[in-house]
Amino acid sequence: MERTLVMLKPGVLQRRIVGEVLSRFERKGLKIAALRLLVLDRAVVEAHYREHAGKEFYEKLLEYTLSGPVILLILEGEDAVFMVRRLVGPTDVREAPPGTIRGDYAYRTRLNIVHASDSPANAEREIALFFTPQDIVTWKDENAPWF
Ligand code: CDP
Ligand code: MG
Repeated sequence: MERTLVMLKPGVLQRRIVGEVLSRFERKGLKIAALRLLVLDRAVVEAHYREHAGKEFYEKLLEYTLSGPVILLILEGEDAVFMVRRLVGPTDVREAPPGTIRGDYAYRTRLNIVHASDSPANAEREIALFFTPQDIVTWKDENAPWF
């Protein structure tokens, strides 16, 4: 089963919409395999967003990501990386259609409220930044056979 990393950015906690955002992933059928609430430090955010270092939005992106607590979670499912990106919607909020998380909740691209890994390789790299193997819970959902 594939795994992906999702971050609910500080705006989600600040706006008290953690439950709503998490429920988008749950009702689709993704399985929560790990979950943490914490305030990140700059070094780990720099490592996470290293591909964007030097871009014009980089400092603001770091500032936003560090502006309060985030929720980090690992979601598991078939094609989880692709499925989660579809639920999250495009980066540019003008392009994010209603029905996607960004389309429904975000008005500014910089404040687009969720991060989701964009490839299985990046998912693995990002998961290792925030979780140890012992943090990941393997569990059966045989009582929910519709998934
Ligand atoms: O998050 P995603 O993978 O969809 O987009 P990205 O291209 O990896 O950019 C990372 C984050 O930087 C975005 O989610 C936005 O919060 C921010 N960003 C921005 O503020 N302005 C841009 N023009 C592009 C990205
Ligand atoms: Mg990205």
